[in-house]
Amino acid sequence: MTMKQFGPTRLAATLIPEIARQWGTPVYLHDQEYIENSCEQLLNMPNAYGLHVRYAMKANSDRTVLRVVTNKGLDLDCSSLDEAARANAAGIPFSRMMLTTQEVAAGEERTELEAMIKAGLKYNVCSMTQFQQIADFAKANSIDLSMRVHPGAAGGGESATRDTGSEYSCFGVHLNDVPTVKAMADKLGLRFTQVHVHIGSGGDPEKWRQNIDRELGFVKSYFPDATTVSFGGGLKVARMPGEKQADIASLGAYAKQRIEEFKAETGRELEMEIEPGTFVVANSGHIITRIIDKKLTNELNFLIVDGGMELLTRPLLYGSEHPIAIVRQDGTLLSSEYDCTPTAGLKSFGIVGRCCESGDSVRLDNDGNIVPVMIAEPEIGDYVVIGGTGAYSESMSPENYNSHRKPGAVMKTRAGKLVQIRKKQVRAQVYQNELDVTL
Ligand SMILES: Cc1ncc(COP(=O)(O)O)c(C=O)c1O
Repeated sequence: MTMKQFGPTRLAATLIPEIARQWGTPVYLHDQEYIENSCEQLLNMPNAYGLHVRYAMKANSDRTVLRVVTNKGLDLDCSSLDEAARANAAGIPFSRMMLTTQEVAAGEERTELEAMIKAGLKYNVCSMTQFQQIADFAKANSIDLSMRVHPGAAGGGESATRDTGSEYSCFGVHLNDVPTVKAMADKLGLRFTQVHVHIGSGGDPEKWRQNIDRELGFVKSYFPDATTVSFGGGLKVARMPGEKQADIASLGAYAKQRIEEFKAETGRELEMEIEPGTFVVANSGHIITRIIDKKLTNELNFLIVDGGMELLTRPLLYGSEHPIAIVRQDGTLLSSEYDCTPTAGLKSFGIVGRCCESGDSVRLDNDGNIVPVMIAEPEIGDYVVIGGTGAYSESMSPENYNSHRKPGAVMKTRAGKLVQIRKKQVRAQVYQNELDVTL
């Protein structure tokens, strides 16, 4: 077999045993060059009167990832005070962040929020309550606000659980309530200089286009002070070979044209903002797991690997698919779903983790049943490498389930060096906050 590399990062199969030897398995792997290239692609998106790109840090909040992204010139979209504080602890100033959150900060958190806003954090009002809570402070400090609007339609996500524009989604000030909040702001002399909509993650790019039209419509009707319009994140990434990735250039060209038409109609020049997470990091990531057991049953052949749902919960949560590569202990690439190679001699295996859940598998159907993966038959000790795991893997997994420790992470640098960026948890970290009490 001649193929030696796989996936969008052209990962050399020989690196897999090398990484496993140095840092053990399971382990997360990231690729600096891939992340930087996706940042550049986004920054080069066509635009009319300027483009501002924020990285949605919920996709992967690791400090090294944040530094790679912000060094390339992206700012941050934070979804909680804790995220903002975490990014700040990584050295990123609050002035490079926008907060779009469901939280209504009170008490100490309120004090913390005010300090962050004074330090330059942009506050994106997501509800009437949030507006009422921040209005006096914003007025007293002459702070302009952003508003997240629930568009009331035209939502789009890869699944219903990731559609934030539908009637089942509670994110943002609903379009029906915008006139009320706007009137309250006008009375206080407060300005909304930015309008924001995020319709969902990984949906049909056509929905993204529809949102541009809709959003510019209500920017015109309700937001005379807006100078920036954010179309949110949600740019679709192709993780599996058959999937179609969002065409950044074409979406940018569409937005550019619409924003230019808006200028022709209103005389107003709007800066465009976007805040992708998945697009920046998803395909930069792999999880390297080791096969610890094999069970051949009459119904299904199982490979048990040393990391599953506690590392990557997307298959169980959304039925998401991730490409699988099988690498031998000597670094030979046995099969790769990325390249659909080889095409013959493959066997079907259910690939499962170590957790006590029948759904702890890398591939499941909509009913939660395991879907076998066609791979070259490996031995115990060989590696199952799971691709497309740079986003919403280590940042959103039910880590420590079954008391498994959160694995470490490694970054392959632009120069090709392997650098550990996070250590594996030690056992005591799993239970360090538990108290010895006498009941
Ligand atoms: C407000 C907001 N912006 C941006 C994103 C990033 O979405 P994606 O990772 O699909 O680009 C999300 C994801 O949930 C979000 O909620």
